[in-house]
Amino acid sequence: MASPTARLAKDYPWVKGPVIASAPMRLIALSSLAVEVSKAGGIGFIGASSDVSTLEGYFKDARQLLRSHHLQTANNTLPIGIGFLNWGADLPLAIELLRKYRPAAAWFYAPYQISDLVAWTNETRQATGNATKIWIQIGTVAEAVEAVEKCAPDVLVVQGVDAGGHGLNRGAGIISLLPEVHDTLAAKLKGREAEMPVLIAGGGIADGRGVAASIALGAAGVVLGTRYLAAPESVITKGYRDEIIRASDGGPHTVRTSVYDTLRGTTEWPKRYGGRAVINRSYEDAMAGMGDDENKRLYKEEEKKGDMGWGPSGRMTTYAGTVVGLVTKTQSAKEITEEVREETIAVLKRMHTIATDGWMAMSRL
Ligand SMILES: Cc1cc2nc3c(=O)[nH]c(=O)nc-3n(C[C@H](O)[C@H](O)[C@H](O)COP(=O)(O)O)c2cc1C
Repeated sequence: MASPTARLAKDYPWVKGPVIASAPMRLIALSSLAVEVSKAGGIGFIGASSDVSTLEGYFKDARQLLRSHHLQTANNTLPIGIGFLNWGADLPLAIELLRKYRPAAAWFYAPYQISDLVAWTNETRQATGNATKIWIQIGTVAEAVEAVEKCAPDVLVVQGVDAGGHGLNRGAGIISLLPEVHDTLAAKLKGREAEMPVLIAGGGIADGRGVAASIALGAAGVVLGTRYLAAPESVITKGYRDEIIRASDGGPHTVRTSVYDTLRGTTEWPKRYGGRAVINRSYEDAMAGMGDDENKRLYKEEEKKGDMGWGPSGRMTTYAGTVVGLVTKTQSAKEITEEVREETIAVLKRMHTIATDGWMAMSRL
């Protein structure tokens, strides 16, 4: 059976290793971000809204942006991926678009129940003749086992609890989650090794150190969300991006909560998910006992302040992961992708020196 890395190289021939994907951040990661990441040798994902009626426009834009820059693909696919929120997206409409635009990957996340993912997986495979590979993002060992048994995804994105944006309320960090997912799946799939999905790590990774660590844990690549919020290609306001650059020490200064969903009216997420964001006045007030109606009223007022509404004493939401403190400057998606890849190779070379010259070599590095 081909190794995970060989499978990635075959399915995404334009990619330069180690594989770095940009997360399909809903209505933030659109055509420009996805295309720039793919052009830089990563795998860029568009983040569809739960309402997929606007999706065709993003596909068209991506196709246009890719016209002047040929990337080698497999099976005549579009060299980007598309991420769906399965709790809300319209399956027949999405399948029509997948058939028409043939993205290299379809990423599924947050269904109400596993049977929904089975339908999405089967219909996508049928619509594109298996050309569009299936990525499923999970957050626990149990979810990994269920996704593999029911859907046999090509790629499993293992999301640790540090991740920015939505994730499971109860989760583990990637450093313990990924190896346990790997070992559990390897044991379950003994004799059926071909069904082992490629593992991609996400949550708390922002630079080459995190990517090298993920490779050590058993991942074939990584997905970065929070880091790409610093790229001008991400569709966020200046106030949001400034807050990403400003915020640090994400453990105490971010939180996974449903407070921000309540304020923003995005309350259809399955109850097991919360959104990780930088702690601000809205959250502090909610914890101090302020009712939802008053908090929503103040949120609406704050919207009028524009970019000034972000920040620890502001009320606009800054979805970001605990890794936010490692994101310290604005950089293009291309620069981020290339820099993280080069850093990873440098870290791996240092590790190689330690492995070959002995641990005392650490004092020379
Ligand atoms: C602002 C933001 C929005 C996100 N939106 C989505 C989404 O719509 N769908 C999805 O599958 N994941 C979404 N994610 C989660 C990512 O897929 C990924 O798990 C996460 O960004 C990885 O952790 P990191 O932020 O520490 O890099 C989002 C993440 C962020 C930061």
